[in-house]
Formats: sequence, C-alpha cells, structure tokens
Amino acid sequence: METIVQTVDEESLHQAAEVIRAGGLVAFPTETVYGLGANALDAAAVAHIFAAKGRPATNPVIVHVADRGDVTQVAAQWPEAAARLAERFWPGPLTVVVPKSAAVPDIVTAAGPTVAIRCPDHAVARALIRAAGVPLAAPSANRSTELSPTRAEHVLKSLNGRIAMILDGGPCSGGIESTVVDVTGDRPRILRPGLITAPMLEAVCGAVDVAGTTPGVARSPGLMAKHYSPQTPVVLAPTAAEAKRLYQHFQHASTRAAVVGFDPRFATRAMPNDPRLYARDLYATLHELDDGRFDCIIVELPPDTPAWAAVRDRLFRAAAKN
Ligand code: TXA
Ligand code: MG
Repeated sequence: METIVQTVDEESLHQAAEVIRAGGLVAFPTETVYGLGANALDAAAVAHIFAAKGRPATNPVIVHVADRGDVTQVAAQWPEAAARLAERFWPGPLTVVVPKSAAVPDIVTAAGPTVAIRCPDHAVARALIRAAGVPLAAPSANRSTELSPTRAEHVLKSLNGRIAMILDGGPCSGGIESTVVDVTGDRPRILRPGLITAPMLEAVCGAVDVAGTTPGVARSPGLMAKHYSPQTPVVLAPTAAEAKRLYQHFQHASTRAAVVGFDPRFATRAMPNDPRLYARDLYATLHELDDGRFDCIIVELPPDTPAWAAVRDRLFRAAAKN
C-alpha cells in the first residue's frame, strides 16, 4: 500500500473521511501526539490498526470524539467524576475510562467492560471526526513499543506502506500522550500520567489514586514497561554529575554517547527547564538522536515532582529493556 502524506485542507479532510468510512486507516495530528485513526464502531477497521502497529490484542485503544455530547454513543454510564473532568479539561489531553456501550466492538476495549474516551484539543482531529461522522479509535501512530510521533515525518518513518494516509498538521504542541484516568471505581485512578497532572485532577474531583503505586491494583493492560523506546539504548542519570560521569566513562570505552540534559554547556541536546516545554520536545529530540550516530543516549532525569511525573514516566519506559 502506498502511504500518502497530505497537508490539511477541505479536500484532504474529505478524502481522509472517505478512507475512514471505507474501513481504512488515517494518521492525524492531535495536541498530544499523532493518532492512527479508524472507525471505532467497525471491528474490522480497528483490526487494521492492530495489524499495522503490530500491537498486542491485549492493549485496548482510546476512542476519540469531537464533542462532549458524543460520549453517549460509546459510554454506557457517565459517572459524576467523568462529567466534572470532561467539563474542566475537554477538549484536551485527558482520557477517561468508563463503562462501555454495546456499540463499541470488543477489539477496541481488549474485550474488557470499559472504554477509554477523549476529546482532542486539535481542530484537525475534531474536523476529521466530524467529517467521518463516527468516533475514531486511535492509538499513537507508531509501531508498537517504538517512540510516539509528534510530527508527520515520524509517522511516515514508522508506518510507511502500512497505512493509507497521513494528514500533516505540523508538530504537536503537547508532545506526550494524554493522561488516562479510570473513573469506574470509588476514586479516580491515574493509569497513565500526562500533561494533566495529579494536582490538576485533584482540584476538580478530590483525591486520586495513581496506578502502580497502589498495592494490589493492576495497571492499565497496555502499560508494559518497554514502550516509547528509541532503537538506541537509553541510560538514565539521576543527576547532572552522574550524567557527566557516565559520559566520560563511555568516552573512555569508545562508546559514542549523546547527552540529553539541562546544562547547555554540556548536553548534546539541552532541554527546557519547564515540564510542558520539555514534554513538547521530548519525542522529537529522541527521534532525532536515534539516527545511528550514537551508541547510547544518556538522559539526565528531571526532579521527582508531580509536574514532572509524565516526563519521568516516559523516560523510564524509553530506558526499559522489556
Ligand atoms: O494522547 C493520546 O492519548 C494519544 C492520542 C493519539 O490521542 N493516544 C494514545 O493511545 O496514546 P495509545 O493507544 O498509544 O495509548 C492508550 C493507552 C494505553 O496505555 C491503553 O492501555 C490505555 O490507554 N487504555 C485504552 N483503553 C483502556 C481501557 N478501557 N482501560 C484501561 N486503559 C485503557
Ligand atoms: Mg502508544
């Protein structure tokens, strides 16, 4: 299959909507990362997503809607916490997990009773959903376990020949995937940290749990450790001094190391000292350093605070071996 890359206009949106309605795949920009969209109500179309990504069937996908009101199509219940969170953060980088309606095929939810829904804060994403006339099942538009795409060229690098079309809407402003919150229990539970931080959620709906730190509670099925990884090994350094020490060690061993850190005098890529700006640049930086020039990528970890939780989560996954 030839993958066509189109800039966004009325004509290409119309064409993309046609592809979706015919059961095909279209990669499109959102405010977080590029998504790989299919008609969420068509099991065969969603199966193409899993095939193109090499995604395990145990990992459910997020359903994207153009408006808050459209959740009734895919949610069987809309708990109070979901209503509050959607009111405050939609459109935006927040995904809520709620009981699914009968209209949602099993393949979307990995046969589970819940569905993850979000309303993206991106004009192209919402225009495409509206033009297609159906909610879009869309994981990030990359091969499974690889780095997520924040530009059309990242999508092309990973999925060329495997999908019908890429709508090029320029770089994503958010840069990392949405916060995923399960609101089916007594207390909202963060399954995946993102740009909407725990304190931001708590200001709207009271105390929240964080999966992975709650004893006995399983994480989201798709949250295997290795994910969002470049081909080049990533080594994490807890401090700038440790990053320097590692760099010198590798240099001594004739290992070509790149450093992603905060000190512009030392780092190969100096990163912004603000979590939102760091997130925006993170995947693009790793994509860029992952072109074969380096044997490893040393990353100086940002501080262990709620504001940096999502960035740290993605860095730990990028460095995970499996
Ligand atoms: O920002 C984003 O969320 C991007 C853009 C394209 O919207 N999408 C994205 O999708 O990151 P994906 O498939 O790469 O990640 C979806 C995450 C996975 O960790 C998956 O396990 C979780 O959401 N998830 C999906 N449905 C779920 C469900 N019913 N229950 C629990 N977790 C779910
Ligand atoms: Mg993904």
